[in-house]
Amino acid sequence: MNQKKDGLDGVIAASTRLSRVDGEAGTLLLTGYAVEDLAPHATFEEVAYLFLHRHLSAARRAIPQATVELLRAAAARRAPPMDALLMATPTLRVEQPEDVIAAFPTIIGTYWRLLNNQTPVPVREDLSHAAHYLHQLSGEAPTPARTRALETYLNTVCDHGLNASTFTARVIASTHADVVAAITGALGALKGPLHGGAPGPALDMVFEIGTADRAEAVIRAKLDAGERLMGFGHRIYRVRDPRADVLAQAAERLYANGADRAVYELARSVERTALRLLHEHKPERRLDTNVEFYTALLLHGLGLSTELFTPTFAVGRVLGWCAHYLEQRRDGRLIRPQSEYIGPVGLQYVA
Ligand code: ACO
Repeated sequence: MNQKKDGLDGVIAASTRLSRVDGEAGTLLLTGYAVEDLAPHATFEEVAYLFLHRHLSAARRAIPQATVELLRAAAARRAPPMDALLMATPTLRVEQPEDVIAAFPTIIGTYWRLLNNQTPVPVREDLSHAAHYLHQLSGEAPTPARTRALETYLNTVCDHGLNASTFTARVIASTHADVVAAITGALGALKGPLHGGAPGPALDMVFEIGTADRAEAVIRAKLDAGERLMGFGHRIYRVRDPRADVLAQAAERLYANGADRAVYELARSVERTALRLLHEHKPERRLDTNVEFYTALLLHGLGLSTELFTPTFAVGRVLGWCAHYLEQRRDGRLIRPQSEYIGPVGLQYVA
């Protein structure tokens, strides 16, 4: 019998040319390029081309009327935006995987406006993918600085080895189900707070702390109560998540341009206190800042509500899911691990 690995820790379950995560060195390569070289400079369209070898088509941004109707019904029930995205994705008309990438900003923007009693804005094909997302949400064409900040974020999170949602997408792809099924499954995995659901709670903690002098008491109380600090720790990285640095620099630029500077300073101070107390709390385990902490700060600086943080993560990560889908279909085999049975045996059934 093979050895069991809880959480498939350290198990290599796929080969990929898409991204390389080195948890000891704290490095991330995206299609061979260091994340810090690629993410802050490339357009999302360029990164998409590196991953898919296909062009994203702005002509595929519109969503079917049936999808809009579904979003309207979901808004009437005040469903969270992540649930609306999960429900809407299977209603898209998809010919190629990249059609889903093109449609995500429209789904989320349309839903957000419906939820806030605003009329959805028409799709614009003249804007870049990142600018189009911000336009769908606010109805205004964003400044180049805001577009750049979002684009850096989308590029930074577009792929990350065999994380939980990407693994889910690959498992579904391995059954030869269609790409929409794979992406819907991946969205479900992304939703959880141990994966893509962390940035909202990370920012909530910063707001709960409120002023730097309260950080120590609040964080200590959380750790004493056995809570995990959202935005810290990682399964693979044993050092600082390199994506945190890319996003910290992007946030710094954004906040220097007028966004709520006090929140930025407070978050930096909360981070320093959290790292010190986590080290005290678990000296044997290196717990460092992960991508979600600075995601929260950057997206807040862009004026996005916390409810939009995980859906916005999906706007970036859907690129990786599509690329992994294609890679799995091309090279992969049905993914089918085994379980160790630990239940009773030999029970006698009595009708
Ligand atoms: N705060 C406090 N304690 C922590 C934290 C944290 N953020 N992270 C890990 N620990 C503790 C655990 O409680 C555990 O202690 P125990 O051995 O006494 O139970 C120990 O450190 C080891 O933790 P594991 O659960 O083995 O770490 P794992 O690799 O499974 O978890 C994870 C990684 C889920 C990210 C974890 O660090 C965590 O819950 N962080 C907070 C949530 C978060 O930020 N998620 C986003 C991750 S990034 C992403 O998915 C895009």
